[in-house]
Amino acid sequence: MGVKIVETALRDGHQSLFATRMNTEEVLLALAELDKVGYHAIEIWGGATFDACLRFLDEDPWERLRLAKKVCKNTKLQMLFRGQNILGYRHYADDVVEKFVQKSIENGIDIIRIFDALNDIRNLEAAVRATKKYGGECQIALSYTTSPVHTVAYYVDLAKKIESLGADSICIKDMAGVLLPKDAFELVSALKKNTKLPIELHSHCTAGQCEMTYLKAIEAGVDIVDCALSPFSGGTSQPCTESLNLALRDTPYDPKLNSEMLEKAAAKMQPVRQKYLANGLLNPKVLSVNANIIKYQVPGGMLSNLINQLKQQGASDKLEDVLKEVPNVRKDMGYPPLVTPLSQMVGTQAVLNVISGERYKMVPKEINEYLHGRYGASPAPVDEEIRKKIIGDDKVITYRPADDLKPEFEELKKKYKGLAKSDEDVLSIALFDQVAIDFITRRNEADKPIKLKVSV
Ligand code: CO
Repeated sequence: MGVKIVETALRDGHQSLFATRMNTEEVLLALAELDKVGYHAIEIWGGATFDACLRFLDEDPWERLRLAKKVCKNTKLQMLFRGQNILGYRHYADDVVEKFVQKSIENGIDIIRIFDALNDIRNLEAAVRATKKYGGECQIALSYTTSPVHTVAYYVDLAKKIESLGADSICIKDMAGVLLPKDAFELVSALKKNTKLPIELHSHCTAGQCEMTYLKAIEAGVDIVDCALSPFSGGTSQPCTESLNLALRDTPYDPKLNSEMLEKAAAKMQPVRQKYLANGLLNPKVLSVNANIIKYQVPGGMLSNLINQLKQQGASDKLEDVLKEVPNVRKDMGYPPLVTPLSQMVGTQAVLNVISGERYKMVPKEINEYLHGRYGASPAPVDEEIRKKIIGDDKVITYRPADDLKPEFEELKKKYKGLAKSDEDVLSIALFDQVAIDFITRRNEADKPIKLKVSV
């Protein structure tokens, strides 16, 4: 059987290329054609899509999902879920996690891809339990990174834990795009040997090696790979769907996607790409290759954040020093993978260490919380001397951070009785506070659903 493809254009594609700004009309534009391509799944929802709907597009993310489900009759819809952080940035109580999973599935999600930034299994448990309870397909993603502790043996051990947790499949989530072809071959081979679950690979083209990495992973037996339709592929996004489909033709890995439907969908989406190029949201810079990602092992988004942070402080000349400090901070923190929110936290700490002239003289609140164990267990032990310098003799928790959180949902439902028109509204408020409250207020006053030119 050939390799299966998950289409990412409608989630990671526009998230990586132009800050997740595609509106619902554009998301639905070619969905009927994409539905006939023969994908394993279409990824459509996640933290950034949800956030951008409320914050920038004045759209209800739940309505987008329902409309997509109406159009997409043959193909499974997939979402990305940040474990105990759901689609937000902090840990939420288990009842909110469960309710969010339930409502996601009810509104149209088939596959939930759950990950934790630290690969702390305890931060995945509530989401996995809920996904199984409400009949969703549960994929657990391991956050891929490189470090002395992130060996093949580490990931095999993690995969075994994931399998016993009840996942239906495993995804290697290389959010930074640092996975090299030979390492992918080795990792996928080891995972295939040690678990029975289907293995999926998710990476990014930022550093220029991704297509080679996919090919080696495919040769090693990977079952599914994530690709983006041509108008939203390459650069900081995923490899191109059409190209991979053609490249693997007449091989044992042939994905056998419907080329005619792919062409039709790409033709419909091309003007959307042009629109974002023209209005500047899609910066051609993100479409070119940046091999420094591999050199420094920092994700593209983090690199541009560091450059901006330094520019604001008038310290652009310190970039090289900061990039050298990032691996030191990471080591002190026990080698967390550089994914949201850890990438921002480690980056900011590295900037402060360089600019203040003394390491850990200034420490952001989040790093302080992290050292208290509030994000979960670090992959390797943190540097105790540095911990002591920052938090003194404070108690460090070793239990699951969410164990401290009391149920939140019913309380919120009561509090926003007049405003929230549904449980979905309550969940939006639970995750995005004022941003969601403002949106729902505007929506209730206008009482207008999303206007569409496409028919659903
Ligand atoms: Co990604």
